[in-house]
Amino acid sequence: MKLWTEKYRPKETKEILSQVKALKETTEWLERWRPGDKALLLYGPSGTGKTLIPEVLAREKRWFLMQINASDERDSNSIDSALSEISKNHSLFHPGKIILIDEAEGISSRDRGGLKAIIKIIKESRFPVVITVGNPYVPKLQSIRNHCKLVKLSKVNALSIEKRLREICEKEGVKADEDVLKNLARWSSGDIRSAINDLQTLCQDRKGITEKDLESLGYRERETSVFSILPTIFRSKNLNASRQAIRNCDKDPDEIFWWVENNLPQEFEHPDSLAKAFDILSRADVFRQMVSKQQNWRFKSFMIDMLAGISFAGEPSGGFTPYKSPDRFIRLAKLKRRKAMMSGLSERIGSYTHTSGKIVQNSYLPYLKIILSRKKKSDHEGIELSEEETKLILNS
Ligand SMILES: Nc1ncnc2c1ncn2[C@@H]1O[C@H](COP(=O)(O)OP(=O)(O)O)[C@@H](O)[C@H]1O
Ligand SMILES: [Mg+2]
Repeated sequence: MKLWTEKYRPKETKEILSQVKALKETTEWLERWRPGDKALLLYGPSGTGKTLIPEVLAREKRWFLMQINASDERDSNSIDSALSEISKNHSLFHPGKIILIDEAEGISSRDRGGLKAIIKIIKESRFPVVITVGNPYVPKLQSIRNHCKLVKLSKVNALSIEKRLREICEKEGVKADEDVLKNLARWSSGDIRSAINDLQTLCQDRKGITEKDLESLGYRERETSVFSILPTIFRSKNLNASRQAIRNCDKDPDEIFWWVENNLPQEFEHPDSLAKAFDILSRADVFRQMVSKQQNWRFKSFMIDMLAGISFAGEPSGGFTPYKSPDRFIRLAKLKRRKAMMSGLSERIGSYTHTSGKIVQNSYLPYLKIILSRKKKSDHEGIELSEEETKLILNS
């Protein structure tokens, strides 16, 4: 049986939902693109049209779409040879070509060759290169990011998803209760692929679907926001529920730790409960630090258990708490980002000078800082620093 996501895969741009801005930007970019220009980096959550957009645009223009799935071609040589081949051959049958490097996060960060090959292709390609990725801000993609124009895809809104589900039901001859489609759309949190997949699962061997059938799909793990899990952590006396909430949250348990710390005094007003709560938190902190000191991820699960137990410190205040974001964590996160950027940059410079990142940081950067501060224009032969990186060095 054919997957409905494929059967109902949009063939024309007018069938693509929600992504008006991204579509416009991509179309304009394609029209303006000249050899030597940057590549286009399409990014956003899964099931929102990242692969779809270049595919449909190529079809409409009758251009050839050369697709490379970066997660399949882990070996850098094959990316290299495949890519250099396609970027240099004109097609006899198509007026143009788009080179699509799909799911670039699949490239391992250790695979320097693969990353380098992609950058080389971006620079040398005679055809526009489109790269797709979920999160472009992971350190390993920094070098690629510098060579790309970024275009963001947002989650598909629930109403559009609901409408598309209804159309599919009509075409498949399935009768669906109003609420079922609404709930399916809402559940999918903007991932239309998963919504259509859920619908197909539900409709198997059925001519009509009701709210009751939804239950048969069971609980689906979905990322939930930290604001909706904090009440569970602070107030639920069900250890398992709290544990599950932490694991399903869109934030890392490490970050949740700081959210809990920052909001404890608001939740537990009685001094005894507050003291107990901080005692539990301090134990969680011991495990938290063991994770990073010993690089042993087993401790993470102990930390989660301790955090989940915080509600046993006493009776929480009960009313509505306006949870506040932990400033301290945000400062730490910024510091971490600077550190990651600095070490990525040093390694990149090191690959030119054949030295380790450490040596670059300790011995070269002070000189580079002087050189950069004396230069009027930001041209630094070969290394190609982004504005952000130049600032980082100047402020180091
Ligand atoms: N914006 C959209 N409009 C309509 N259908 C979409 C959209 N985004 C995704 N889909 C559906 O989801 C499926 C997967 O889309 P795809 O572009 O491959 O997602 P991803 O963003 O993960 O690359 C498509 O076959 C299509 O059915
Ligand atoms: Mg995709």
